[in-house]
Amino acid sequence: MHFIKDSVENYLETILVLSKNNNMVRAVDIAAYWDISKPSVSNAMKNLREQGLILVEENGNILLTEKGNSQAKEVLERHSKIKDFLIYIGVDPATAEEDACKMEHVFSEESFQKFKSYCHWITENNKPYSDEIEKQK
Ligand SMILES: [Fe+2]
Repeated sequence: MHFIKDSVENYLETILVLSKNNNMVRAVDIAAYWDISKPSVSNAMKNLREQGLILVEENGNILLTEKGNSQAKEVLERHSKIKDFLIYIGVDPATAEEDACKMEHVFSEESFQKFKSYCHWITENNKPYSDEIEKQK
């Protein structure tokens, strides 16, 4: 069950990211992005279409519906907040990118909102994490 949820969220996020950079998002672009086969992307797109999350135009262009777009934005927000936080605490950016893409699916809404508030608090107070670590020594 988690795999299906993760996979739907990852596809929506990918469509949003690709649509920011390209004029068109086709199944082949998504397949190339994840280095997976086009038939698996086509199956996933059928599923997303049935859930009312995307529309596929005649020329193969994939568009997010309003519902799909709002879910995609949520996942992308989680991704970028988690990634920024991991980098902030010293994780290598490539690892942070990879880990954020896994962690973005597991936070409950409540935990994510608290996490966001905490990140906001850090920014407001402009406290380098390393200073906090030093204090504890
Ligand atoms: Fe992600």
